[in-house]
Amino acid sequence: MKSSNLQKTLKKSEQYLPAEDTFFLADHLEGLSGDSALDIGCGSGYLTDILKSTFRLVVGTDISFNTLVEQNFKTQNVICCNSADALNLDFDVIICNLPYLATDEIIDVATDGGKDGLEIPQKIISSALPHLSKQGKFLFVTSSLSDYMGLIDFVHSKNFKAKIIDRKKLFYEELIIVEVKHLLS
Ligand SMILES: C[S@@+](CC[C@H](N)C(=O)[O-])C[C@H]1O[C@@H](n2cnc3c(N)ncnc32)[C@H](O)[C@@H]1O
Repeated sequence: MKSSNLQKTLKKSEQYLPAEDTFFLADHLEGLSGDSALDIGCGSGYLTDILKSTFRLVVGTDISFNTLVEQNFKTQNVICCNSADALNLDFDVIICNLPYLATDEIIDVATDGGKDGLEIPQKIISSALPHLSKQGKFLFVTSSLSDYMGLIDFVHSKNFKAKIIDRKKLFYEELIIVEVKHLLS
């Protein structure tokens, strides 16, 4: 996507309010704890807020500045950037409710994933993986509306383990949670 188009899209972007995919990922945060956690594409801050109670340091990132300004669940450490690009730190847990819809263009940064729903998720994952601590866990939400197996193959190509740990059928799609770990963890 041309950066001038991205800037126009971002100017129109709005906070993504917690939805089925958010709540599904939230169910998988129960029992997680540690030193540091990163919520990529933190949106309203709903998930970041949950992580705050069990992690010492929690960072949220979002590419949409409007979103971070509007956040319904305000959190302390939020950064406006692509995925984890601005960070120089490893995390015990990384989460992301991806923009996974297969779309020809990126009209809504909150939901549109580009071709086969892979383009933006691959960008986000490529930036996130170097920030996963050796024993860390990266959970992301994707969907049957995208080439989720292609996304899992992409993670494997980066020399990480990836497996589907849960699925949830909705009326029009199936939500999928993928867990990523280092090969030797
Ligand atoms: C599906 S929404 C999820 C929001 C929130 N985490 C939730 O679960 O309700 C995806 C979020 O990712 C953000 N986003 C999209 N592309 C991104 C990127 N390349 N880097 C960081 N955030 C991005 C969007 O602005 C949006 O807030």
